[in-house]
Amino acid sequence: MSLFSLCSLWDKMFDTNRFIEEKVKELQDRIKGKAIIGASGGVDSTASAVLLSRVIGNNLLCVLVDTGYMRKNEVEKSQQMLRKLGLNVLVIDAKERFCQRLRGVIDPEQKRKIIGEEFIRVFEEVARKENAKHFVQGTIAPDWIESGGGLRDKIKSHHNVGGLPEKVEFEIVEPLRDLYKDEVRMVGKALGLPVELYERQPFPGPGLAVRILGEGTADNTRVVREACAIVEEEIERAVAAGEMSKPWQYFAVLLPCKAVGVHGDVRVYGRVVVVRAVESLDGMSAAYSKIPHKVLEQISIRITNILKDDVTRVVFDITNKPPGTIEYE
Ligand code: XMP
Repeated sequence: MSLFSLCSLWDKMFDTNRFIEEKVKELQDRIKGKAIIGASGGVDSTASAVLLSRVIGNNLLCVLVDTGYMRKNEVEKSQQMLRKLGLNVLVIDAKERFCQRLRGVIDPEQKRKIIGEEFIRVFEEVARKENAKHFVQGTIAPDWIESGGGLRDKIKSHHNVGGLPEKVEFEIVEPLRDLYKDEVRMVGKALGLPVELYERQPFPGPGLAVRILGEGTADNTRVVREACAIVEEEIERAVAAGEMSKPWQYFAVLLPCKAVGVHGDVRVYGRVVVVRAVESLDGMSAAYSKIPHKVLEQISIRITNILKDDVTRVVFDITNKPPGTIEYE
């Protein structure tokens, strides 16, 4: 390798501290007065919030929207975590309005557009009340790339980009827009976020709604929420016991079909749940995780026991990205 290519490789390496310093300066010039941030409790929005709180302190309000499509106990846990980091938090219970707007909707892109718009409408209402002119979101590079940014084809409308309505009432600020997930984790670590947070697996903004193929009814959400919790618990238990390494992302998906099963000697006709787990660096490509069969079997047994009246079959997804995407919608 020539000296020139070594130098340009070095230039391309990500300098976390320099990034933070430059962003703080840029935000100091840009943000005047109050700002609100769409906070989910994930690493992207939390790192954005901590970065911004270094600039405007108490003038930042983290708005955590409970869409009804969050994972088990997620709203409570995220709220506590954000408060522990010294951030101001407002939780908005928007379960009913998301549920109303998604009634009868089964097309993935339509779902994503509705969710993206509804998020913004909630944030606009809060910004009006708080007299905030800036709305901050934790958008990262794959969000706008996959939403058809630049010259690329649209793969799916990420809720915070392709799902944005054309007209919004505030100025949108996206401090981590050019970063990939691995770089966001480095920024999170440098900002002093707890390790469980900066290493936390990604969770899509539209939440469990895009892990239900079909309508996001309360009943479908209950089933996929419980199945997701079991997949997370069993995989984390196996990782802690040294039986496997931690996948990049791991969750359950509910299929829009039924399959025959048997309980004792009685025929049952129930739902089908997919276990999805992948290895990746930045979410742009992924390989399915080679989870030990013993762990998969335990997941299957628990799902079909706990969700006995709902699920008759558990399958494991062995598709890489490409051609599959990580989420199903
Ligand atoms: P896909 O399914 O496109 O996902 O392979 C790549 C990564 O992005 C996450 N994802 C999202 N994150 N808003 C987000 O904040 C979204 O709308 C969204 N859609 C997918 C997905 O979980 C994976 O980590």
